[in-house]
Amino acid sequence: MTSEIEQLQASTLDALQHLQDAAAVDALEINILGRKGKLAALLSRIPTLPPAERAGIGTLASEVKQTLQLAFNGARGKFSGTNDHSHFDPTWPGVAPSIGHLHPVTAFVERSVQFFTTLGYAVADGPEVETAAYNFDKLNIPANHPARDLWDTYYLNPERDGILMRTHTSPVQLRYMETHKPPAYVVVPGRVFRHEATDASHDTNFSMLEGLAIDRDLHITDLIGTLKAFLQHTFGPVKMRIRPSYFPFVEPGIEVDMSCLICHGKGCSVCKQTGWLEMLGAGMVHPVVLKNMKVDPKKYSGFAFGIGVERMVMLLHGIPEVRLLLSGDQRFLEQFHY
Ligand code: DAH
Repeated sequence: MTSEIEQLQASTLDALQHLQDAAAVDALEINILGRKGKLAALLSRIPTLPPAERAGIGTLASEVKQTLQLAFNGARGKFSGTNDHSHFDPTWPGVAPSIGHLHPVTAFVERSVQFFTTLGYAVADGPEVETAAYNFDKLNIPANHPARDLWDTYYLNPERDGILMRTHTSPVQLRYMETHKPPAYVVVPGRVFRHEATDASHDTNFSMLEGLAIDRDLHITDLIGTLKAFLQHTFGPVKMRIRPSYFPFVEPGIEVDMSCLICHGKGCSVCKQTGWLEMLGAGMVHPVVLKNMKVDPKKYSGFAFGIGVERMVMLLHGIPEVRLLLSGDQRFLEQFHY
């Protein structure tokens, strides 16, 4: 019976090709699909079939009926000179236009900035091409300082005349304080550039989120509390480790590590087998830097921090390779819809 139904479909489609007007189409339709048509006649034999075959025949018959119905409608449309839209289904879902989405780094920066603005911080930015005076000198990194060695890099001309791609966002601390008076609370998101060999957790071009707070009676506990609130806002209840560290523009300086969320402390290539990831540097603003900001260190104190954004994004999403973030590879980026 299957072949009879298939044959009916084939012969009907063939006959449709040779019809000359809409009336002929109507007549053929009644002959085939009508209540007393050929398809109905075939189907009336279903009850005589073995039960196992019945369902398959029913499905085939309804597919054939649908195909023929579309063919009849189409043929009628051809003769009437207008397209027959009776098979147009307005409830069918449309084709979604492909609109872009935020890069995971951008999304992270936006979310973090929003966290700090709810704490009352302002947002500022500064130039990516910076002078050595702002990138180093005013931050208490004199010309002969070893910290400068590490960063003395990407000068814009071979004479190293003091114009360079900034190595951190800390220079904006000074630029901001040129136009603001304490109390001042500001965060600075931005791109920084370093001449280093790349590996799974280092790139030559990455993002930082700098923070600066200057007020009366600010203490290191305010700094630690702020950073803890930020990390817990971002990652939930995380393990945090604070180590004394050294940055010329803060005293004391600290580094904040977080347990590696990728290997859960076991050791992997991202955390260099230590189980901890260096997340950010911070400290109490050095009195020399306060003076360079024209802020009186006897009246005011301040704290500052610099967050490495890519590391945070890697931990947040379990990305084992920082260089993917700047690769522009759609197969990677499509996984992060914001
Ligand atoms: N600028 C430092 C860096 O790029 C990070 C940093 C450390 C920023 C301590 C700060 C700070 O504001 O207080 O590694």
